[in-house]
Amino acid sequence: MHKIGIIGAGLISRSHAESIRTQNGAVLTAVADIREEVGQRFAEEYGCAYFQDAEEMLKHADVEVVIIALPTFLHGKYVELCARYGKHVLCEKPVEMTVEATERMLEQVKDAGIIFMVGQVVRFWSGYTEIKELYESGELGQVHMAFASRCSTLPDWGNEWLLHPEKGAGAICDMHVHDVDFLRDLFGEIDSVYCLASKDHTGCWNHAMSSISFKSGEKAVAEAAFTMSDGYPFTMFFKAAGTKGTVEFTYKAGYNIGERDASTSELRLYRQNRQPVIRKLEQHDPYARQLQYFLSCVEAGEQPARVPHHENLEVIKAIAAIRESADTGKILSLTS
Ligand SMILES: NC(=O)c1ccc[n+]([C@@H]2O[C@H](COP(=O)([O-])OP(=O)(O)OC[C@H]3O[C@@H](n4cnc5c(N)ncnc54)[C@H](O)[C@@H]3O)[C@@H](O)[C@H]2O)c1
Repeated sequence: MHKIGIIGAGLISRSHAESIRTQNGAVLTAVADIREEVGQRFAEEYGCAYFQDAEEMLKHADVEVVIIALPTFLHGKYVELCARYGKHVLCEKPVEMTVEATERMLEQVKDAGIIFMVGQVVRFWSGYTEIKELYESGELGQVHMAFASRCSTLPDWGNEWLLHPEKGAGAICDMHVHDVDFLRDLFGEIDSVYCLASKDHTGCWNHAMSSISFKSGEKAVAEAAFTMSDGYPFTMFFKAAGTKGTVEFTYKAGYNIGERDASTSELRLYRQNRQPVIRKLEQHDPYARQLQYFLSCVEAGEQPARVPHHENLEVIKAIAAIRESADTGKILSLTS
């Protein structure tokens, strides 16, 4: 039985707690959150121990695996702490705010010999997994252009850190990382990026459009936005037009990503001389699939091949270059 602790009892921790409930061989034993009332309520709801101090949890709770669901700028500090206590870690995306902090974290993980995975949940998400299968099986042919988009209203569930340029950096970091990561997974190493973006009153680039070229020759544009008007549901979209086929995926959740029960999602596939295929997609819990995979890595004592560490670093390098491009208006190469 895998004994799991969660650090951070905010929005996304609930998706993780629910995902633990779906696993036969796992149980949530503890949660840590500096906000006592929030942490206590979470512990009561999920029937686990509460700690205000994360290190106390690592010292005293019966925990083998830790899920880090903290504000992004704190990931490195707490991954390092977990590594010191020899705990395996599933850490929320974006793994860290800077390239240097990510490199440091990955070194510490390696030295400690723990199993470590970044929660790039899109790699486990129905729709995206089908797109990857279609691309890899050659159904789409050579892709002329892909478009990946992720848009929502400005988050307002009390997480001010998210809209602080150094703690969360808004949509250009927090949202964009999903699509940059998925495109990296699909098309391989990134060659160059150019970003056109608008900055709002928060000081963050909260609507970004990035052109991304891959070494493989594929090209994509990715959009990330926190600028949608009231009532606009959290929306993900992906389209790839290839020499043999065009795929289009749409997903609309409720108000935010926590409201997946109200979601609709559809995948359309168009191929030359064939009838279009239009499929409503059953949404398997992607956080449960992600956790199941991570626990299988822990059991095998192997680092996660589906979310490799070197790709995590490349994606953070790409996000840093995209932010620099938004600042300077320059096309930036990632290969020089
Ligand atoms: N994979 C996804 O779909 C997804 C969705 C949303 C958020 N995220 C990521 O998850 C992470 C958390 O986001 P969120 O929206 O849940 O944030 P949040 O602000 O809702 O929750 C963070 C929690 O951490 C607690 N906390 C802060 N400092 C702490 C400390 N030192 N020790 C213990 N607890 C502390 C806060 O009190 C809060 O309850 C971020 O990195 C974010 O990018 C991922």
